[in-house]
Parts: sequence; C-alpha cells; structure tokens
Amino acid sequence: MKVPTAVIISGAGSNLQAIIDYWKACDPAYDLKLVISNQAQAKGLVRAVKAGLPVMVIDHKKFATREAFDADLHQSLKDQGIELIALAGFLRLLSDKFVKDWAGKMINIHPSLLPAFPGLKTHQKALKYGVRYSGCSVIFVDEGVDSGAIIEQAVVPVLDGDTEMDLALRVLKEEHRIFPLALDEVAHGRVKLVDGLVVRTPQDDQEGVKKL
Ligand code: GRF
Repeated sequence: MKVPTAVIISGAGSNLQAIIDYWKACDPAYDLKLVISNQAQAKGLVRAVKAGLPVMVIDHKKFATREAFDADLHQSLKDQGIELIALAGFLRLLSDKFVKDWAGKMINIHPSLLPAFPGLKTHQKALKYGVRYSGCSVIFVDEGVDSGAIIEQAVVPVLDGDTEMDLALRVLKEEHRIFPLALDEVAHGRVKLVDGLVVRTPQDDQEGVKKL
C-alpha cells in the first residue's frame, strides 16, 4: 500500500515539482494526496494544480497563535488521511506538539551539509567560511532548527568566484535529485526514525526477507 503523502510549501515549489515528477515517472511508495501552502500566492500551488493535485491554503495570519495554526494544519492533514509529510520550502517554524505528533513522518530539505549552516542564509555563510564543498540534506524534522536526524545528503563543490546564486542553483539541482529519493525511502520504510536516530534497511535485505 502506498503511503498517503502531503507536501507543504510557502513559495516557488521547485522541490514540490521534483517530488511530483518522480511520483509520475518512478512509481514510488509515496502517493501524493495533498499540497498545502500558508501563502495564497505561492507559485508552487500552480504546479500542484497543473499536476491535478488537491490544494489547500491555510493562511497563518488568520490564526492568533502558532499553536492554533498548527492545530488547524494537523486536523486538515488528518482529515485527508495523510501519513507522511514533506516540507518543501515551508517557511514557518512548527510548534513542539506538531513536531512530536509527526515524529518520523515529516521530512524537510535544507540547502547545506548539516550540521553545518542551519537556519537562514546558508549559501552566504558557506561562502563566508570559504568551505570547498557544500550541498543539501534531507532530515527528519525535530524540535530544533534543522537539527533532525539525517536521511540523505548530496555534496557539490564550491568554485572560485561563486556568487550565492551560483551556489544556490548548484545545490538546488541536487535537492531536486535527492528529496524524492529520500521521501520514497521513508515511504518504503527503508529509512526510519528510532529513538531519535536514523535506522536504514538496505533494499537488498528487504528483498531477502520477502524471499524467505
Ligand atoms: C530550497 O532551497 C529548500 O532547500 C529550502 O527552501 C528552498 C525552497 O525552494 N528549504 P522551492 O520552493 O522548493 O523552489
């Protein structure tokens, strides 16, 4: 059975597009059921509609507190039978309760090689430090800022003369490659969160178990 999955966005939705494209082309274990944005103008909503996906706007400004917004978000996801969440450029912090409720079932993409450069302005920080390699990380979301257990990463070189935009585009290309793969691995149950740590079961082992 495929895992009913929602993608939550705030903006351009290029990662959402990568997740949609992989879903249409590669028969993954996740089944896209819903796209939610907290921004009515998010371009990603257009991508979702074009793909024939149900969309929902939950405007955080209409809620008095973060907790009230998160409770509404939680209920909307539950109402649609969602079991797995991909945060793809969702620009809001989530309350501890929401994060606990979805522990091991909510993943995020971050444009750095975590634990380096959590938070905002990652490419600016990477260039300032002079790192020779950067990249992106897919993580299970925990209560901290980009501090969750790491599911997948990809590395790119930082080249002499790179601007933030050069680096961002090189990293984004890798985000689009690894995010759908990581989501598929989690949906398959081949990568799990156990007691705050990532546990991986290689595909071959699972096939071995099936044969037995
Ligand atoms: C990506 O760089 C992602 O890593 C970060 O926000 C950006 C979202 O881009 N969390 P998009 O909306 O998927 O195009």
